[in-house]
Amino acid sequence: MIYMSILKNPVNPVKMIDLARAAAEHFVTRSIKAVAKKGSFTVALSGGSTPKGLYEFLANPTEPFRDQVPWSGIHFFWSDERHVPPDHPESNYRMTHEAMLSRVPVSQNNIHRIHGENPNAAQAAKEYEHEIQAVTGEDLPQLDLILLGLGTDGHTASIFPDSEVLQETERLVAAPWVEKLKTYRITMTLPFLNNGASVVFLVSGADKAEIVKEVLEGPQRYPAQAIRPTKGELLWMLDKEAASKLNPQAQANQ
Ligand code: 6PG
Repeated sequence: MIYMSILKNPVNPVKMIDLARAAAEHFVTRSIKAVAKKGSFTVALSGGSTPKGLYEFLANPTEPFRDQVPWSGIHFFWSDERHVPPDHPESNYRMTHEAMLSRVPVSQNNIHRIHGENPNAAQAAKEYEHEIQAVTGEDLPQLDLILLGLGTDGHTASIFPDSEVLQETERLVAAPWVEKLKTYRITMTLPFLNNGASVVFLVSGADKAEIVKEVLEGPQRYPAQAIRPTKGELLWMLDKEAASKLNPQAQANQ
């Protein structure tokens, strides 16, 4: 039932380029509002190919967004990170740095990356949690915007199917072992992600159509279905291909 209400408005199947544009508009609106209200905006960036399009859009000087974003008032966090150094090709920090952060006037003090280079992933997670709490001044902060992707196996952030991190209730950040990838990942946990003010899934491409349908219309089986903000909004931003297997009625309602 919960997905019916999600489907009413936020699922908006568009072309991928329009998806990045819609997400950029959301980012601009939210960041302006938050900075005007409290002087800062907190965002958790996601890895993945779809969010990358958003970052490139935001930083593009020929698009309207770059000049509207209150860059110096934004605190950047990451919803998850690979267990690699920041210059590694798989680093989410590296991707966001190249696509956006190196091209816009952000305050370096406001870039709070996960230290994936720490050989001890659990310690990196613990330190990241402390940094988040120190920056926000809260034990369980409410980030203004949390960006998430969706894997074809139903994972989101680095919360994979059957992972012990699905049971986490206390920690903001954890370092689960991901058996299928034979590596640790460092990820924000469900209680923290679900405390976000605006939680946005960005999903594009035909290879995601089946899992999008299963997550939005099927029984509870996947980590992405555990994303249910307790006080905030949940938006699914999909391109036409990713939305192509959804119930036609749900698509017609958009
Ligand atoms: C990561 C992510 C992960 C990602 C999905 C979707 O670090 O890999 O944060 O959750 O968002 O795997 O990735 P794509 O958009 O590249 O398919």
